[in-house]
Amino acid sequence: MTTALVILAAGKGTRMNSDLPKVLHPIAQVPMLIHAMRAGSVLSPEHTVIVTGHGSEAVAKVARAEDEGAQIAVQEDQLGTAHAVAQARSALSGFEGDVVVLYGDTPFLQPDTLERMIEARSGNDLVILGFDAADPARYGRLVMNGDVLERIVEFKDASDEERSITFCNSGLLACNAQLLFSLIDEVGNDNASGEYYLTDVVEIARRRGLNVTAVACDEAQTLGVNSRADLATADAVFQARARAELLDMGVTLMAPDTVYLAADTVVGRDTVIEPNVVFGPGVTVESGATIRAFSHLEGCHVSRGAVVGPYARLRPGAELAENTRVGNFVEIKNAEIAEGAKVNHLSYIGDASVGAATNIGAGTITCNYDGVMKHKTTIGENVFVGSNTMLVAPVTVGDGAMTATGTVVTRDVDPDALAVARAKQENKPGYARKLFDMLKAKKARRDKKA
Ligand code: UD1
Ligand code: CA
Repeated sequence: MTTALVILAAGKGTRMNSDLPKVLHPIAQVPMLIHAMRAGSVLSPEHTVIVTGHGSEAVAKVARAEDEGAQIAVQEDQLGTAHAVAQARSALSGFEGDVVVLYGDTPFLQPDTLERMIEARSGNDLVILGFDAADPARYGRLVMNGDVLERIVEFKDASDEERSITFCNSGLLACNAQLLFSLIDEVGNDNASGEYYLTDVVEIARRRGLNVTAVACDEAQTLGVNSRADLATADAVFQARARAELLDMGVTLMAPDTVYLAADTVVGRDTVIEPNVVFGPGVTVESGATIRAFSHLEGCHVSRGAVVGPYARLRPGAELAENTRVGNFVEIKNAEIAEGAKVNHLSYIGDASVGAATNIGAGTITCNYDGVMKHKTTIGENVFVGSNTMLVAPVTVGDGAMTATGTVVTRDVDPDALAVARAKQENKPGYARKLFDMLKAKKARRDKKA
C-alpha cells in the first residue's frame, strides 16, 4: 500500500509568544516539524504534504531542506483541522493510496505506532490514533462501542458524561486519501468553535456504514507543544530518552542528566562522556573516545581514541582523527587534525589542516580572517609549533618544521626549517632596580600630597 503523509503545520502557536512559527521551534536542536517528518518517514511515503499558514515560507524552506520532494499546501485562513487537510487535495489528486495525517507539533511519535495504524487499516476504512490521558483536559474524546469508534466529540461540545471518557484523540488518522477528501466534503462548522473539525469524519464515515476503529499508543508519544513550557518539557523528555539509549548502547555518561544531546548525536561504544557536555547538531563520536567536562561540540567528527576537553569547543567542520588530543580552551573550526596530533591548550585552529603527530603549542592562533575573506593554514606532519605562534593565513608549514615561540608566521615555512620572527631580546643590567626606585619615589610624593 502506498502512503502519503499530510502534516498539519499552519497554526500560529499563539501561546509560544514568538516570531518563529511554532513548528520551527527546536527540540534537541532540530525543528519540531523535522521530528514529525522523520517519524513519518518509516512509511516511505510517496508524497509528503506540509500544510502551512503562519510563516509559510520559513516552514516550507525547512521542510524542503529535510526532503526536497516535500509538497507545500498553503492554508490561507486557519478554519480548522478538516479545512487544513482539504488543502492537500490538489497535491494528492489522482493518488490512490492511503493518507496518514499527523501534526507538526507532535514530535514524539514512534515508528511502530504508525505501522500499527497501517496494519489496522487492512480491516477498517478509517483508523484514529488514541491514547489514555492521565489528564484528559481539553482533548477530543473517543466514543467507542467495543472496537468500533462511533465518533469523536471535542471537549467544548461534549456532555458531562462524554467528558468523563479518558480515551482521547491524538489527532492522527489513516484513511484512503480520496475517501478522506470525500468525508471532509461533508464536514460543517456548526459547533462550539465554528471550525471545520477533522474529527467529524468519524461520525460521517459511520453514517455511511464504514468501519472505523482506534489504535492506542502511550500518551508520551502524543505530547504536543503549545507553549515554551511545553517545549522545555518536550526537550527534557527527548533528552531522557536519548541518554537512556546511549547508556544502553555502551556509552559511559558520568552524569547523564548534565549531558545535552541533539536529535542526531551519534556516539560509539565505550566512549566516555564527562559531566556538562553539550552536543549541537551533526556530531559523530566514534568508539573509545573521551569527551571531557564542559566541552561544546557541533557539526564535527571525533575518531576512536581521541580525547577532547575539558572546556574544548569543536565547531562545524572539525574533523579529529584517531588518538588526537584537543585540550582546554581550544576552539577548532573547519579543520582536520590528523592522527596523533595534539592541540592541548588555549588555541584557535580554524580553516586549517594539521598533519599527523604534529604538536601545536599553547596559545597558537591561525589568523584565518583578514576582515573580508577567510584563508587556509596548512601544517604538515611532525611539526612543532611553538607556543604563542600566530599563523597568518594563507600559509603553509612543511613537514618536520618548527616555529619558535612567539613567532608571527607570514611566509611559508619549508619542511625541516625553523621559523623565528620576533624581536631580539636585550638584557639591561641594573635597570629594573633603577626603575623600581623611580616609581616608588613618585608614589611617595603623590601619597604625601593627598
Ligand atoms: C485537535 C483535535 C482534538 C485532539 C487534539 C490533540 C480537532 C477538531 N481536534 O484539537 O480532538 O484531541 O488536536 O492535540 O481536530 N491546524 C492547522 N490548520 C487549522 C487548524 C489547526 O494546520 O486550521 C494544525 C495546528 O497547527 C496543529 C494541529 O493542526 O498542529 C492541531 O490543531 P489545534 O488547533 O491545536 O487542535 P486542538 O484544538 O488541540
Ligand atoms: Ca493542540
